Amino acid sequence: MTDKPFLYVVVCAAGVAADVSRLISRAQERNWEVGVVATPVAMNGFFDTAAVGAQTGRPIRSAWRAPGEPNPFPAPDAVVVAPATFNTVNKWAAGIADTLALGTLCEAVGLGVPIAVLPCVADALAAHPAYRDSLVRLRDMGVRFGDPYAGGPEPDGGRPEFGWDGALDLLAGRVPGQGCPGPVPGDTGTR
Ligand SMILES: Cc1cc2nc3c(=O)[nH]c(=O)nc-3n(C[C@H](O)[C@H](O)[C@H](O)COP(=O)(O)O)c2cc1C
Repeated sequence: MTDKPFLYVVVCAAGVAADVSRLISRAQERNWEVGVVATPVAMNGFFDTAAVGAQTGRPIRSAWRAPGEPNPFPAPDAVVVAPATFNTVNKWAAGIADTLALGTLCEAVGLGVPIAVLPCVADALAAHPAYRDSLVRLRDMGVRFGDPYAGGPEPDGGRPEFGWDGALDLLAGRVPGQGCPGPVPGDTGTR
């Protein structure tokens, strides 16, 4: 048990997920206890699940627990979705909860938990009207978004940095123990 605030890091199946340990390190430096919830596709080679599990000291969650089985994570004080895919953003906005990650996100909004999102979506997909509508809807629900990131090569051939730190900055001032003035609702959810 710890009295540190608990951060869920939701990891989707985008190439930059390979570096999610950087976000976890930054969060731990900022006094967060971290648990990772990954989409089933993200578990299929998008990041080093063994290393990330060792880094957080907890199993990575991807599947629903069995009825009667305790939730291995405490309730979240905040949630970061990084990287967030086109697929998960659209399904979340539509209220679809067919993965643990999506169910967690849909529920976190209803619980009033602060949520920060770092999308990683190619420009061609980001131009889809459904995606634009999803961003509007999620923002209206209070979800905070970092800058768009398409991941394409820069003129010099390199890739731009993915703004891992930005997610924690988006949460700053909204969480108990991290400068938030108000309580976060208790956990009554089904995760
Ligand atoms: C190597 C690779 C990299 C991918 N990168 C991205 C990406 O950056 N953004 C994205 O939206 N989808 C990306 N995809 C496609 C997603 O993995 C795919 O849409 C998947 O269904 C997303 O599932 P999830 O949202 O449940 O994680 C990538 C797929 C592969 C194979």
